[in-house]
Amino acid sequence: MRVPGDKSISHRAVMLAAIAEGTTHIRGFLEGEDTRATARVFTQLGVRIEAPNDGERIVHGVGLHGLQGTPASLDCGNAGTGMRLLAGLLAAQAFDSTLVGDESLSKRPMGRVIDPLAAMGAQVDSAPGGLPPLRIHGGARLRGVETATPVASAQVKSALLLAGLYADGETVVREPHPTRDYTERMLAAFGWPVEFAPGIARLPGGHRLSAIDIDVPADFSSAAFFIVAATLVPGSEVRLEAVGMNPRRTGLLAALRAMGADIREENRQEQGGEPVADLVVRHAPLRGIDVPVEIVPDMIDEFPILFVAAACAQGRTVVRGAAELRVKESDRIATMAAGLRALGIAIEEAPDGAVIEGGRLAGGVVESHGDHRIAMSFAVAAQLAGGDVRINDVANVATSFPGFDTLARAAGMSLRE
Ligand code: S3P
Repeated sequence: MRVPGDKSISHRAVMLAAIAEGTTHIRGFLEGEDTRATARVFTQLGVRIEAPNDGERIVHGVGLHGLQGTPASLDCGNAGTGMRLLAGLLAAQAFDSTLVGDESLSKRPMGRVIDPLAAMGAQVDSAPGGLPPLRIHGGARLRGVETATPVASAQVKSALLLAGLYADGETVVREPHPTRDYTERMLAAFGWPVEFAPGIARLPGGHRLSAIDIDVPADFSSAAFFIVAATLVPGSEVRLEAVGMNPRRTGLLAALRAMGADIREENRQEQGGEPVADLVVRHAPLRGIDVPVEIVPDMIDEFPILFVAAACAQGRTVVRGAAELRVKESDRIATMAAGLRALGIAIEEAPDGAVIEGGRLAGGVVESHGDHRIAMSFAVAAQLAGGDVRINDVANVATSFPGFDTLARAAGMSLRE
């Protein structure tokens, strides 16, 4: 099987291509609602973007100073990545902008980007409590500063780096734990002399971006649902082709292997500067583990599906140091705990994690709260359950994984809408 293109990389590809000089050809672009929303925003800002085929975009870059303002709201949909990165980029423009999002995004904290951007001289207003919509005042002169981010967040780091493209002097971001480095890698590929190592990025001001061709690898987070499904369902063997294997994304593999999973990597190669590999996954019985706190940021999007693996493992799995899960598309600790309990699993919540007792899943009704990864995780859980599982509110699966249901059925999973 081949899962769709990486969401994080697709967002960044459109953003950097839009402000580069020249024409960027993107292949493997995720045709998800989140990434399409980002492309639509740049169209509103005067960038011509062609979509000759599914998964392909030709972006006619307007250069760093070529975006045009619009009085219309810019709708980021469900995408935290879209809104936070755009906040950084738009804070540096000559014009005002307004960023809005859907119901879930409108409840997510934006203070984490507003405050450090303010320290660079940006002016961004929010609704009370640091929530969207964001009103971004253009015309600010930004200065490069050094920021130590209190939370490990690639979105915050990336917002500051994008603002830093326009700042006087050097922008430095230090993180408490290393996070995904796609912005840094892609800036370098577009010709900006950024220096980076795990946990730190240093970006000088005053350069230009030059268009490149981008091949987006398959999204590890989408592959994760099939990695866990194949591990859990007896008799399974699945090959997932050309999956993005950036070490800041693949923490789930370490966790699953420690639990006893049988996952082989084949055909390791580089694709557009990113490591990719085929993953061959065979059914294996799992045992519970204490998830090492240091790999939490490397698997931050995979906890819903890890909770499902833990529910089917023998013994207890302990997750700590993952308070960020509370502010994702839903409160992923609470949403998973409620759903797993509804299916007969014993799970104890902590502010920053959970303790999950492996057991036998029963049928039942679960609420995904419009969270794509929760919905897909319970679709996998259902394959192991003793009765039917009804998952409510699943439309947002299309934000990150259009065609999930078709691919899941092709893999032998049973589900209908
Ligand atoms: C992302 C960063 C992570 C992740 C999100 C995508 C990105 O968010 O959860 O799905 O593309 O930078 P945080 O930066 O809030 O941890």
